[in-house]
Amino acid sequence: GEKKILEGKKMVITAGGTVERIDPVRYLTNDSSGKMGIALAEVAQSMGADVTLIAGKTSVPVPSGIRVVKVESAQDMLEAVMERFDDSDVIIKAAAVADYRPLERAQQKIKKKSEEMTLTLIKNTDILQTIGQRKTKQFIVGFAAETENVEEHALDKLRRKHCDLIVANDVTQEGAGFGTDTNVVRIYDAAGLVDILPIMSKLGVARELLLRIAERMAKGAES
Ligand code: PMT
Repeated sequence: GEKKILEGKKMVITAGGTVERIDPVRYLTNDSSGKMGIALAEVAQSMGADVTLIAGKTSVPVPSGIRVVKVESAQDMLEAVMERFDDSDVIIKAAAVADYRPLERAQQKIKKKSEEMTLTLIKNTDILQTIGQRKTKQFIVGFAAETENVEEHALDKLRRKHCDLIVANDVTQEGAGFGTDTNVVRIYDAAGLVDILPIMSKLGVARELLLRIAERMAKGAES
């Protein structure tokens, strides 16, 4: 088994994609399977952490024995994270949160009418940025799904969202990102590149990341 290097740490981990409703039977979502966040929850728990997984839409089951809060939209996910924020020691945001939601959510199924129709979207609150701004003791880890200029975009997100670490996956790479059992990531902190990890299982990525989180939290507690 794993060494209990995260013993007693209260951790909130988000996984999966958010679902943004258009009407009672239609919605916008993305390709997140939840595998990355679920792997983090499993490994963190085996390292002794007290884990709550906040899960949007997932295409794989959450292993029994993990405390899970199911949510639908980005707004629901924000509420679920904020409810647990003050108590948390670590927050990891592996979920793929929709940047926009339909401005209006029709109460009835939308009828087919003209040849063209326009759906107006409005920005969702950025959960990571919100918690980054409010953080006191929390160690905050973001993910960044990029298709170009990975380092530049990841570092920009880390700084804007006040993360302690950011995990960048270039989702155009074979075996990386959405839906796969593996991932290819680079980890950054405010000073820049921390690690380039080779392709490995999402459980492997979870383990590497959590080891670094535990190490940094232990160092922070010393100084
Ligand atoms: O679920 P899998 O199939 O295993 O795939 C894993 C993954 C590719 C989804 C995961 O590794 C990943 O990269 N998750 C973040 C995806 C994402 O939304 O990235 P982003 O670059 O759009 O957002 C950056 C960060 O801000 C993320 O931590 C995201 O959770 C957060 N965010 C974004 C928008 C928003 N409104 N609120 C947020 O908190």
